Amino acid sequence: MIYMDNAATTWPKPQKVKEAVAEALENAGNPGRGTHQYAVWSSTKLDEVRRQTAMFFGIQDPLQISFTLNATHALNIAVNLCYGKILTTSMEHNSVLRPTVTRGYYSIVDANTEGSIDLEKFKNNITALTGAVIMTHASNVTGEVYDIARIGEFCRKKGILFIVDCAQSAGIVPIDVQEMNIDVLCFTGHKGLFGTQGIGGIFVSPHIKVRPYMSGGTGSHSFLLKQPTEMPDCFETGTVNTHGAAALGAGLDYVTKIGINKMQEIHTALWKYFSSEARKIKGIKVYGPDAENDGSLKLNTGILSLNIDGMDSAEVSAELAENGICTRAGFHCAPLAHKTLGTDMCGGTVRFSMNHLNTKKEIDTILNVLREMN
Ligand SMILES: Cc1ncc(COP(=O)(O)O)c(C=O)c1O
Repeated sequence: MIYMDNAATTWPKPQKVKEAVAEALENAGNPGRGTHQYAVWSSTKLDEVRRQTAMFFGIQDPLQISFTLNATHALNIAVNLCYGKILTTSMEHNSVLRPTVTRGYYSIVDANTEGSIDLEKFKNNITALTGAVIMTHASNVTGEVYDIARIGEFCRKKGILFIVDCAQSAGIVPIDVQEMNIDVLCFTGHKGLFGTQGIGGIFVSPHIKVRPYMSGGTGSHSFLLKQPTEMPDCFETGTVNTHGAAALGAGLDYVTKIGINKMQEIHTALWKYFSSEARKIKGIKVYGPDAENDGSLKLNTGILSLNIDGMDSAEVSAELAENGICTRAGFHCAPLAHKTLGTDMCGGTVRFSMNHLNTKKEIDTILNVLREMN
């Protein structure tokens, strides 16, 4: 079996992650809601993982991070923090697009037909009305990594709130909120951070005034009939997923031990090999920048989207599954990205998304299956 659906969720999960969940199942009480040993175990675990997360993303104060259900939850909170017009891109996931469109008052910068974003064009779309920029660090369709540090620098100079969706990049590409001038960072635990599903988080820079998104129990200020407005309680409504946080902590350890620069190197190298070999096969169309001659950052999270002439992406993905190759077909929740790439009218793409454990040998096997199908 060759697993290439890591952009949906990473698999396999590291042994230490499984052990961390088992340990939490054994020991976790309700965090912040008691003084007995189980409740204290959970509170201590959340503190520990909050500190680890802060260290991982270059965040000075761990208390500026709230745990959420996933990146989608964090992004909805983030959109609710925006004032003025929101500027976003055509390469966004529905987790950015839907809350933005639902809120209203936004504009969208179109990427080029490869899915790359021209920085000058991006800057030209910023006007006096722009209050926030919200964008993904990496495309979940092409794997291209965008130069968010330069966009962040520009936003900071103009006093524009800069919100980054790092669902696809966290754990694969280095992220430092200070160096990149990120005001709000939204992450998920179950992809490149190797945690379990149901845990994510939001970092909000201390200079931003937060306002609650949901109200309910926080274990703090119980007599206050309104939601507390300080981080992290403001967004930690209801019981936090301690078991998920424990898994996230073990996942962060796992990635840190391998090294984020090493992760970036492996993912990009696998993508380069796969992309250049697949492009040589007649009848196959590969989407996104060409590793050989594009002007982008040349970093990739290890995603390759393609189509075979005359075949529906779902049909290709199903046939690959019969050969033990796990991929995803369709639109990958990024409708405007497919309009941009010209794959909106042909059923989207077949997406191969790798992790650091995949090998060139596996890619060769896939290339052979694709050649036979073609
Ligand atoms: C770019 C991007 N943003 C956000 C999300 C949402 O992540 P989650 O489902 O964990 O909320 C995804 C998930 O695939 C994604 O690819």
